Amino acid sequence: MTSKPRLQIIIASTRPGRVGLPVAQWLYDRAVAHGGFEVEIVDLAEINLPFMDEPNHPRLRQYTHQHTKDWSAKVDAADAFVFVMPEYNYGFTAPLKNAIDYLHHEWQYKPVGFVSYGGVSAGTRAVQMVKQVVTTLKMVPVSQAVSIPFVQQFIGEEGEVQANETMETAARAMLDELQRWTAALEPLRERELAAA
Ligand SMILES: Cc1cc2nc3c(=O)[nH]c(=O)nc-3n(C[C@H](O)[C@H](O)[C@H](O)COP(=O)(O)O)c2cc1C
Repeated sequence: MTSKPRLQIIIASTRPGRVGLPVAQWLYDRAVAHGGFEVEIVDLAEINLPFMDEPNHPRLRQYTHQHTKDWSAKVDAADAFVFVMPEYNYGFTAPLKNAIDYLHHEWQYKPVGFVSYGGVSAGTRAVQMVKQVVTTLKMVPVSQAVSIPFVQQFIGEEGEVQANETMETAARAMLDELQRWTAALEPLRERELAAA
């Protein structure tokens, strides 16, 4: 790989006033400072996919809608992901599941890290649930994660994240691990591309 690998930070919550946006902006700054990636925020509220409306299984890549072709190109361009995700009713969000289900090959052999948040559980139940889904798509979830309990305590008056040292350390560890897995999985991604 000649240039830096591309990391997409996917915001899994779409509701007005979501905490997901400032959490993603905080992580974006940390990822840029880390230096190992080209970093991009991918906001599912902006992507605005309808509920899955493709007639064919995504593994066929026979997409009929422009929104799917655009989403496919976006995810194809990534080498690694971070899901910034809240916990809704002990699970992960419906927009994230919908966005995942739209595609297949585009996710494969790419690592994914998690920044989760919520109440006492810090979103960890949602992370455990999404791991079952991403491994089905041959993604590699990294165990180093940022888990933010009672997330509102870390939101300042301007709506910005005021992280503690535990969060900062966890973010660095997650990004380091993502960098390792991104490099380790590159040959598998290239083999997939060659076979496509
Ligand atoms: C529909 C819904 C369900 C929720 N369920 C949980 C939950 O199961 N566990 C939890 O810790 N917090 C739960 N919460 C609280 C969220 O963690 C908190 O509102 C958080 O800010 C949501 O993320 P967002 O602001 O990015 O949407 C829930 C919030 C909503 C809106």
